[in-house]
Amino acid sequence: MDKKVFDYKQRWKISSKPKGIEKSTKFQDFGTNRINPDRYISKKFMDAEWDKIWTKTWLMACSSSDIKDVGDYFNFNIGNESIVVVRSSEDSVSAFYNVCPHRGNRLFFDNFGFVKDIGCRFHGWKFNLDGSNQEVTDSETFREEVLCYDHDLSQVKVEEECGFIWVSMNENIMPVREYLGEVAEHLDLYQIDKMHVIRHAQSDWAANWKTGLESFYETYHLSFIHPQTQGMMEDYYVPIDTWPNGMNRMIVPFVEPSKRQEGGSLINEATNLMLSDVGIDPSSFKGNAIDAKKAIQKKKREFSKIFDLGYERYTDAQLTDSFVYGIFPNIQLGCHPEGIFVHKFMPHPTNPEIFTYDTTINYRVVDNPDYHVPAWFGLPENTDTSGKTRPEIVHFPLGVKPDLGEVLDQDAELLPFVQEGIRSRGFKGPLWSEQELRLRHFHYEIDQYINSK
Ligand code: FES
Ligand SMILES: [Fe+2]
Repeated sequence: MDKKVFDYKQRWKISSKPKGIEKSTKFQDFGTNRINPDRYISKKFMDAEWDKIWTKTWLMACSSSDIKDVGDYFNFNIGNESIVVVRSSEDSVSAFYNVCPHRGNRLFFDNFGFVKDIGCRFHGWKFNLDGSNQEVTDSETFREEVLCYDHDLSQVKVEEECGFIWVSMNENIMPVREYLGEVAEHLDLYQIDKMHVIRHAQSDWAANWKTGLESFYETYHLSFIHPQTQGMMEDYYVPIDTWPNGMNRMIVPFVEPSKRQEGGSLINEATNLMLSDVGIDPSSFKGNAIDAKKAIQKKKREFSKIFDLGYERYTDAQLTDSFVYGIFPNIQLGCHPEGIFVHKFMPHPTNPEIFTYDTTINYRVVDNPDYHVPAWFGLPENTDTSGKTRPEIVHFPLGVKPDLGEVLDQDAELLPFVQEGIRSRGFKGPLWSEQELRLRHFHYEIDQYINSK
């Protein structure tokens, strides 16, 4: 591979003159420190994360489309807490701890569903969709002083932004849009509120949640762990941007074979697949991979006219490449006009060396038989893409080999070994390259929270 001289202050750019959404952020120096690996294994650090991160930041509970209608709810579990978000009226969403104020019983048991009002099955207390108390069974048998205490459901801060429902246990937190900063405007472009979850899978992995997130935060490992991606995506010249509050991005060029490969500029099996997916016959296509990429972008602009998709709002790169956003603390979003890949890294309630990888595909449904989901989405056969039914969550417990698609299964197999190594006395902490800048930035933000008073 012909490697250009790398200037870590300049980093790579997606084109010679990136503009608009593609503009790189200014260089911010996160140093060269080596972090203490203790934070991946220690229960003490895990407890500090609970007190200073999970209960202080905004957390993505679910997608807006998960609670489309009034009465729809979603049960979001984080650590030992269960937080329920409910579409409580046409123009409001409520969130509360899944706890009855009478004696503490859980109120919701399913992952998601619909309720007219909220009832507790222990002694029959009832609550309105906004969590306010509707009825105390035999209220005349309570002394007035007892019912003077708050007996509504205990509220959690909630906002709906960028097509997602966000909750925070921190009453004093800034608004979500401010928290996301510039990333909110980028996400707006994708109109995620109009998308629907068409696949939702969870898999428990024997590693710390940060070990998991980090393997999604860089493309440095692709040629080794996922060699099959080399024909389809660039993994070395990957622009990385960092923003305040732990938000960051990498842009992974698609329909560009890796420059690590011999003959990387030529079209190959993967680029041929991408061509035929948009209706271009690869056998009669003349040109190299970059020509193929341009042809696909042009074709997508034609689709936009035919299917009224409004792709004028996207740059050419957004039509083909993966714009991958990191949202602190535990979210990665792979953004494409056709849909968004949501990856969440959920800590185990008690064990720092287990986490749950939670992933959804939020698909932009186009009601036209001539339109189809891109083949590279890799959806299981018979996936309902109408957006009419919210799919059940497929869960692969610890020890069960997941079936998440080839690339993710490779990560699932690898991560327990990384975690095992991190636990060794011989491991002194990670040595990050600038290809792993997002990891350094992530830990910088973790430190800001952990070291806060
Ligand atoms: S615990 Fe809910 S009504 Fe008693
Ligand atoms: Fe991976």
